[in-house]
Amino acid sequence: MCGIVGFIGNEEAAPILLDGLSRLEYRGYDSTGLAVYGEAEGLQVVKAKGRLKVLSDLTQGGATVHGALGVGHTRWATHGAPSDANSHPQVSESGRFAVVHNGIIENYAEIKEFLQGKGIKFTSQTDTEVVAQLLEYNYHGGLLETVNKTLQRLRGAYALGIVCANHPDMLIAVRQDSPLIIGHGDGFQMLASDVTAVIKYTREVSYLDDGDLAILTADGVEVLDRYRQRVEKPVSHVDWEISAAEKGGYEHFMAKEIMEQPEAFRKTVFPRLRDGKVILDELTYTPEYLKNMDKLYIIACGSSYHVGMVAKYNLEKLLRKPVEVTLASEFRYCDPIVTEHTLALVISQSGETIDTLAAMREAKRLGARVLAVVNVVGSTIAREADDVLYTWAGPEIAVATTKAYSTQLAVTYLIGLYFADQMGVIDKKMYDEIVGQLLQIPTKMEAILEQSKDIQYFASLYFNHPSVFFIGRNIDYAVGLEGSLKLKEISYIHSEAYAAGELKHGTISLIEPGTLVVALASYAPLFEKLMSNVVEVKSRGASVLGLTVESKGEEMVKIVDHTILIPEVHPMLLPSLDVLPMQLFAYHVALQRGCDIDKPRNLAKSVTVE
Ligand code: M6R
Repeated sequence: MCGIVGFIGNEEAAPILLDGLSRLEYRGYDSTGLAVYGEAEGLQVVKAKGRLKVLSDLTQGGATVHGALGVGHTRWATHGAPSDANSHPQVSESGRFAVVHNGIIENYAEIKEFLQGKGIKFTSQTDTEVVAQLLEYNYHGGLLETVNKTLQRLRGAYALGIVCANHPDMLIAVRQDSPLIIGHGDGFQMLASDVTAVIKYTREVSYLDDGDLAILTADGVEVLDRYRQRVEKPVSHVDWEISAAEKGGYEHFMAKEIMEQPEAFRKTVFPRLRDGKVILDELTYTPEYLKNMDKLYIIACGSSYHVGMVAKYNLEKLLRKPVEVTLASEFRYCDPIVTEHTLALVISQSGETIDTLAAMREAKRLGARVLAVVNVVGSTIAREADDVLYTWAGPEIAVATTKAYSTQLAVTYLIGLYFADQMGVIDKKMYDEIVGQLLQIPTKMEAILEQSKDIQYFASLYFNHPSVFFIGRNIDYAVGLEGSLKLKEISYIHSEAYAAGELKHGTISLIEPGTLVVALASYAPLFEKLMSNVVEVKSRGASVLGLTVESKGEEMVKIVDHTILIPEVHPMLLPSLDVLPMQLFAYHVALQRGCDIDKPRNLAKSVTVE
């Protein structure tokens, strides 16, 4: 939620801030703004409701705003509707302080009341304005004292970028429960919500921790920890290319990221397969630990949670240990049963989802060991987990996840095989078969992606349906959950996923002539049962788009309206193939409906507020 960027150096800041914001827009995109300090001009603030283009046009690409110090913001509204006034930067009454913020100041109402009581006039409905006004209220000439005093009063989550017109040689960055990185340059320094915003200018980055305060000058960065002791932050080198975060000729990031899945799978899986074995160098679980494990708790949100749903079926089958999948937003509040023998498997693309992070901290507090599956290197979840397995999907920009989902799935397969092998509960033939088939997945994915035109055709038939039901059993049901989320989040069509056997317990009353049902029937042991459910919805007039494996195609075409076929593969790995047509279907439906595919309404990629 919300992207922030800051620059201090010896060149014009505004074009750099705009460029940085263009790479952070996926985090929120209902309004944007920047504040730049120029020696002659003082602190200039330009902000507006709408996409970055509005701000860029207002400032002629940054050319009308002069100065080498500034902050920028792209917003996902929490407090106060999107409007010019509610856009960031928020500025103090005198115009001395400008603040950009990602997060929520939970006690803003109380601070606002206090400041209003002192006669300070507020001009926005945001929680952020209290930070700017409180800075001003506390200011007596010393910037650091002022910031410290102000922070002591704040409760909640915040990444802040602060500029003060009286201290034009400093840019202040503060982090508490919202991500913030520093980009180190030669003669300039930057702050940003993530590395994509700085990588064009520098590949040397460091990650702030909760409670850190950084003072950026053109020549360097000083970081103070929560006790205001000076700390040296390790500087990491980012080695992916800027092109990885660009569209590369595709109309949308989502289309590019769908097509990147075979390669992302290769990068995530192949280096971890050596001589027919799954080798996870990152992990140090002993067979004793795994045998004594009382439960595997999978914790995640959204699509990452759907990966957990698939993993539950596979891991329980492989390990014969109970696996509980829980939504991170529920975990903290359900009095979870966790012991020191519980392993918490935390799944997150961004590594910053606040609910997942909070649930992970709670699981640790309760004694669980935490294994995180994360895509963003250096993210908070990755740094705080006991063990991390990275998905090597590369930067994922489209709000709707595709390649991160696929690589998360892949890592759960590896975990299952690795644990089962360590525990000695998998027979060699099955192990060898699955490992062998993992190697074939990317080629099979490529074959499915080549069918994109067929799926585009099905989308053209169904894009006007007001309501869609995804049905499946076992792992097909788990993939249906993801297919349904993909469709609704980018096309705005109402859709639901049901375990097919559950339809008769209520939902079938919604099926009427013309309702679209997407029937996932790739899991051979339950093919016939699923087809019985398909016949039931057909009898009530539904149109059915079916998906199954090649060997079942002939049977399926007799019953459904249209059939998508996927190559045969070990049942445990089916989700990696099943999901691709679901993603393509959602994409093409959204395209036909003229939706803003990469930036769906009301959403943001990284959900850093509760
Ligand atoms: O970064 P995370 O994996 O923790 O994000 C979790 C969800 O917010 C995310 O998967 C969301 O559901 C996607 N937009 C779905 O496409």
